[in-house]
Amino acid sequence: MKIFHIPVLKNRSIEFLQIKKGGIYVDATLGGGGHTETMFEQEKDIRVIAFDHDKDAIDFAQKRLSQYSDRIIFVNKNFSYLSSALALNRITKIDGILFDLGFSSHQIDQQRGFSYTQDDVLDMRMNRNNGKLTAFEIVNFYPKEKLEQVLHDYSEDRFWKRISNAILQSRKNKKIETTKQLREIIENVIPKDKAFKTLSRIFQALRIEVNKELEALEKGLKSSVEVLKKGGRVAVISYHSLEDRIVKHFFKYENLECVCPAYLPRCVCEKERRLNIITKKPIIPTEEEIRENSRARSAKLRVAERC
Ligand SMILES: C[S@@+](CC[C@H](N)C(=O)[O-])C[C@H]1O[C@@H](n2cnc3c(N)ncnc32)[C@H](O)[C@@H]1O
Repeated sequence: MKIFHIPVLKNRSIEFLQIKKGGIYVDATLGGGGHTETMFEQEKDIRVIAFDHDKDAIDFAQKRLSQYSDRIIFVNKNFSYLSSALALNRITKIDGILFDLGFSSHQIDQQRGFSYTQDDVLDMRMNRNNGKLTAFEIVNFYPKEKLEQVLHDYSEDRFWKRISNAILQSRKNKKIETTKQLREIIENVIPKDKAFKTLSRIFQALRIEVNKELEALEKGLKSSVEVLKKGGRVAVISYHSLEDRIVKHFFKYENLECVCPAYLPRCVCEKERRLNIITKKPIIPTEEEIRENSRARSAKLRVAERC
């Protein structure tokens, strides 16, 4: 029996897209296909272009969504290739796009090393056909400065330096091969009561580096504005402050009419306001949703509309 995990902010995120008959929508992060399915439940007469760089996710969702197969184009690519993938399918403009960032529950179940609660190989690639960089490579072979930078910049955890030193020390004796080994190295140098948060953040840092997640997000957001029709909406569900900050700043920048320095007497920047911000504050899940779906715990939804 297949278990369908509940999509985070399922109804609210899709409501904000204002799905309309005949529209073309992009699900930039198909995963288990839950949000795409919700789009079709709202309006059958739409087309969806569904991206996921993980082939297993595409295969899984293709089966789940088979009843809509004539209205979905599956794209097994990183959403940073949004514009070119749409162009290849002769689509120039879309009515809305959803990003539900990060990794899926299915990917955790597949033992690729995303979770410190399991004992898996240190892989963490969401797209296993893409390159050789794995969490194993980072912890065992990144030079000190680069390892420190990843842990510092992407975990934002105050124990990053201690943990980096512990990894550097430990790898001198023996390769760090599994999530369990890494977890023990970390737990040995941090206070017990901080273990849960710190482990999540350090694992997050490695995953971000392996999958170049923040670069992809910046590219994906930029492309989405290029392809959205006037009135079309971009909705983004993020799960940590690094992602949310990128989304928030991007929306703010695209909402500005002018970026000229204040001392200039008149505007010379020719900047165009391209987005209206719909959610002044991020939408967060209700307590009930968090009880039902612990992954929703840290989710934040931001929505903007193309002017
Ligand atoms: C949180 S899950 C999405 C869950 C989905 N909304 C659902 O309802 O089942 C995120 C998915 O996006 C994919 N993903 C993350 N970053 C991506 C990127 N840059 N390009 C393409 N897919 C990406 C992951 O492989 C994962 O399957």
